[in-house]
Amino acid sequence: MNVNNNSRGIWKSRMGFILAASGSAIGLGNVWKFPYIVGENGGGAFVLIYLVCILIIGFPIMLAEFTLGRKTQLNPVGAFQKLAPGTAWVGIGYMGVIAGLLIMSFYAVVGGWTLAYIVKSVTHSVLEFQTPQQAGEFFGDFIGNTQEVLFYHAMFLALCLFIVVRGVRGGIEKACDILMPTLLVILVILMIRSLTLPGAMEGVKFYLYPDFSKINGQVVMVALGHAFFSLSLGMGAMLTYGSYLSEKENLASATAYVVFFDTMIALLVGMVIFPAVFAMGLEPAQGPGLVFSVLPAVFTNLPFGTFISIIFFTLLAIAALTSGISLIEVVVAYFIDQRGWGRKKAVVVVGAIIFILGIPSALSFGLLADAKFMEMTFFDHVDNITSNYLLPLGGMLTAIFTGWIWGVPAVRNEIEKYKIRFHGAAIWGFLIRYITPLAVACVLLAKFFK
Ligand code: PHE
Repeated sequence: MNVNNNSRGIWKSRMGFILAASGSAIGLGNVWKFPYIVGENGGGAFVLIYLVCILIIGFPIMLAEFTLGRKTQLNPVGAFQKLAPGTAWVGIGYMGVIAGLLIMSFYAVVGGWTLAYIVKSVTHSVLEFQTPQQAGEFFGDFIGNTQEVLFYHAMFLALCLFIVVRGVRGGIEKACDILMPTLLVILVILMIRSLTLPGAMEGVKFYLYPDFSKINGQVVMVALGHAFFSLSLGMGAMLTYGSYLSEKENLASATAYVVFFDTMIALLVGMVIFPAVFAMGLEPAQGPGLVFSVLPAVFTNLPFGTFISIIFFTLLAIAALTSGISLIEVVVAYFIDQRGWGRKKAVVVVGAIIFILGIPSALSFGLLADAKFMEMTFFDHVDNITSNYLLPLGGMLTAIFTGWIWGVPAVRNEIEKYKIRFHGAAIWGFLIRYITPLAVACVLLAKFFK
């Protein structure tokens, strides 16, 4: 059943759409995950491979998702149902809805940590440590505290739901219009601060100088997975945002903007983190605790440290919020379009499901830390299944579907409506039909045969 009721919406402006899609892309992936995986995977060489993945895989898939969304004006399930009724392709849509629920369940946990760290920066409790080891212990204690993590998990989720319930134009677009430019300004201030620290250049070198001896299969795999995660691809978030577009937009140039913004922010964040880490004589390969346990120690030793800490974690929370709302919106749009629900009912039900699913992830660093299956906690599994399998698989199938089933000419027709020329059509067609699916398939298969 496709009920197009007025719970759907439409972007008010072109810029609003681009900012909202960038807001989805730019999130914990850029600010929390990117620096620590760059740190773990050898610096500059990893960054280079990541950029290649963004260009030949991320860009084509994002354009495909935007086009599918605008053509069908539906959520991922409805979109595939409309273009290929009753076929297995609709499964891509369901995979996306499930991935949205799963990702949001642990995303809200980490989002909750960022909220907690804003509060703890204000009360100064994260800024009392001279060494990153002490700050790390403090972080470890915090994420192991059942009550606190559950409280902040709920708070973060509630904030996201509050925006989503207000709908596309009033909630999501308005929030992103204000939040995204703020984020950029804060980052530039932090980068200047970081780059002017004594010893900062060592960090810049680690970050930008590619040491090719560090490239191996594992590095490529992590880079590819992160390209999907960071650009919000492979689960229909961009498809859903595209479905709220009016027809006059130039989809190819919108894609270019979003990819550019997301990549620029990730690169900028690296320019904040690595110079600071090296200036403090710290290790870049700290793992997921990098931002939370190392940076407070860095801030402590900076002039205006409290202030810098507050704005940094506010930035992280803002980035996480604008991504979280896009994850929730995919699931909410499914219930609105496919089940005919009102927006409010959809938001309440989806919020409850995500909260419950998130509980074991929230407790994975405390109560359930030892409840491991195959050496990984619940949190690790949800992250691993979604980022490393569901997103690349969803992205690959979306590429095959648009390139071979729906077809390049149909895509081109949709993009070229309203006298817009799609100059790169031939290149895009080649990438989406051959390069993108093959590249993802190689990486996925390599994982199975390892
Ligand atoms: N792109 C977001 C980030 O970098 C995460 C995300 C993934 C959002 C998939 C939506 C869909 O944090």
